[in-house]
Amino acid sequence: MSDLSLSRARPLSGEIRLPGDKSLSHRAALFAAMAEGESVIDRFLVSGVTRAMLGALTAFQVPWRLEGERLTVTGKGLRGFAPPAAPVNCGNSATTLRLLAGALAAAGTPCVLDGSAGLRRRPMDRITKPLMAMRAPVTATRDCAPLTLAARAADTPLCAIDYAQPVASAQVKSCLILAALAADGVTTLREPGPSRDHTERMLAAMGAGIRVGQDGAVTVAPLTRPLAPLEVTLPGDISSAAFLLVAAAIIPGSAIVVRDVGVNPTRTGIVDMLAKMGAEVSVENPRTIAGEPVGDIRLASAGLKAIKVSGDTVVRMIDEFPAFAIAACFAKGTTEVRDASELRYKETDRITVLCRELRKLGVVLDEHEDGFAIQGGTLSGGVCDASGDHRLAMALALSGLAAPAKVTVQNAEILAESFPDFVVQVARLIEGLVI
Ligand code: S3P
Repeated sequence: MSDLSLSRARPLSGEIRLPGDKSLSHRAALFAAMAEGESVIDRFLVSGVTRAMLGALTAFQVPWRLEGERLTVTGKGLRGFAPPAAPVNCGNSATTLRLLAGALAAAGTPCVLDGSAGLRRRPMDRITKPLMAMRAPVTATRDCAPLTLAARAADTPLCAIDYAQPVASAQVKSCLILAALAADGVTTLREPGPSRDHTERMLAAMGAGIRVGQDGAVTVAPLTRPLAPLEVTLPGDISSAAFLLVAAAIIPGSAIVVRDVGVNPTRTGIVDMLAKMGAEVSVENPRTIAGEPVGDIRLASAGLKAIKVSGDTVVRMIDEFPAFAIAACFAKGTTEVRDASELRYKETDRITVLCRELRKLGVVLDEHEDGFAIQGGTLSGGVCDASGDHRLAMALALSGLAAPAKVTVQNAEILAESFPDFVVQVARLIEGLVI
């Protein structure tokens, strides 16, 4: 696949179950490697970015095997990462690179962490500065990858810090939590908004001394005994579900159910915002699996109206703005997104590139430094480009399902980075299949 074309579809219906959550898959694989003993992770997301994490584990000589969606990892403990023979390639995955930087700072293993040209453009000073404050021996070229970590002796612990992150970022927070496991005292981390808390939940379940205060500050005690291995079935990815929820929301007469999705409150901003726009959406059968809230999301279309998204909600749906922008294209009125300048530091500058590609489809919009405003009812169709961003590829493509004319997305194969099954799952809902 290179070009992906979608045309106006009949209403979506049926039930689907999606592959495991990307953030949880990354964490489960890496934390299992840091634990002692064999972990078994079911419903592991097999995709471009998680293969980057598995490739890195191979480079550090951590044994793992994948049978379908079942990942087995043999962890050798916090300092069990062997020095790799060459720079470790994290591909396009910032989560892989940033989380590994924390884990390797804790391990004391010398290594070079590198990635694709796109990953080399993403800011790394947000982790190198606090890691240096912890006296981790890390250096970077112009605050970007490649990152070089020097060896650190086991009897020289990292230095515990009290650190306020300038941006709300779970990748930064997770990197520092992992490093803090090898510090000389309790580390305290604060951030300006509620970023996803999967690391806190999973490491606590594995026996780490992690607490979250009333004010949201995270305290991490140094590890005194090995992390326990994992035995989990991961929930489906709400960030992938978001594309299908938006597709159902914009096609009149649609009604779908996405089963077994992670509904951690730090990730459900998109569900709240689609409800605010008028979609009939509910979370059913709430339950907790491996410390994570899980549920079935039911959505029926209804005429969407424009809304404004700003403040903490932005953090709770940070990956969903490409999909959300498509909902805005089919809403009545002008939808505004503000306080979202962090979008400029994702796989692409998701404000400029999203606005540029939507304009190619006829959308009337304004670009702001910290967001955009989209005039609903102006998307006509045409040809646009995924621009090296998996979420843009999927969002732009699904606009074709409700547009007056066909939408073609060039270079759409990038979508396999996070959701290789995208086309199959959309087709299932067009056919109205039930699992
Ligand atoms: C992720 C955190 C988010 C998100 C990314 C995955 C994670 O990044 O955009 O896709 O797994 O921790 P930031 O926390 O840096 O915003």
